[in-house]
Amino acid sequence: MDLGTERRQLVRELQALYADKSKHSVYQSLPGFIADELKLQFNIDGKWRGDAIRLRYILRHAERMGWMRDGAWCDFGANTGFFSLSLAHEMPRADVLAIEANVNHARFIEKLARAFKLQGLRILDRGIGLNQLDSIGQHDFLLHLNVLHHAGGDFDSDQVKNVTDFPAYAKNYLSALRLQTNHLVFQMGWNLWGNKKQPIFSAIDDVVKLKILASWFVDTGWEIKDVAYATHTNHDGKCLSDLDYKSVSATAIAGLFDEHFKYALCEEIANFRLYEHPGEFYRRPLIICKVV
Ligand SMILES: C[S@@+](CC[C@H](N)C(=O)[O-])C[C@H]1O[C@@H](n2cnc3c(N)ncnc32)[C@H](O)[C@@H]1O
Repeated sequence: MDLGTERRQLVRELQALYADKSKHSVYQSLPGFIADELKLQFNIDGKWRGDAIRLRYILRHAERMGWMRDGAWCDFGANTGFFSLSLAHEMPRADVLAIEANVNHARFIEKLARAFKLQGLRILDRGIGLNQLDSIGQHDFLLHLNVLHHAGGDFDSDQVKNVTDFPAYAKNYLSALRLQTNHLVFQMGWNLWGNKKQPIFSAIDDVVKLKILASWFVDTGWEIKDVAYATHTNHDGKCLSDLDYKSVSATAIAGLFDEHFKYALCEEIANFRLYEHPGEFYRRPLIICKVV
């Protein structure tokens, strides 16, 4: 088989696995290095949701903090592998574990890992619930992006029946996750199972919601190192040319727990003008924590 035939065959297989009509299909795009080589892209409307800008922010943070490039990374709920494929490509000496419950999507990642010779990337094609967290192994850095609010829907349906069950469950979960990684990059939807009729917090204010979520981390033994939002402005209110994730200042992080600094937190988040986003996704903060 010549290279062109092989590539066309791979593209056909990827297209079938990607659009499998499951709950989380058509969610992520392809990393640029793959899209360019295969001349294939799955277009996700960046006004509503973006993965490249989240990756850019995570890599910026990793570089600023001197996170080692040969560390052990885990991408929990990897979907079609945008983050795990990108990390394995960007850091060839790293160990990257992609955990994905949807077998079609796990196969999708596997095919790309093989085609692009990403030897540091392993795939675990299983749904992992709270009681199986210890089976994922130890990691230096763990991405847990937009999975936890699906507890009770995609997994652990015996433990989360409704929003009332969620806070205690989430704290147990964060407490257990602490044993599997040193650093956590976390993002979560504000509605249980993505259902607007099931808001996890009764408050609608972004600062109030963030403060409650932050208290869960601190109560379960995490230190919050960074909080960032997708915005068209800087935290001082000045316009950026493109949508980007911007961190709040250290003073604003202190304002999560100390009333003296609450004004800085409120002002910075107001300057981000989150209400301008058409949907809820970009109002979800990216939170980076370290085990205390
Ligand atoms: C909403 S998507 C988020 C994807 C990705 N983390 C992101 O933020 O772009 C959630 C993904 O996690 C997977 N998932 C949900 N629960 C899981 C579990 N318990 N174990 C492994 N994967 C899970 C789903 O199949 C889906 O691909």
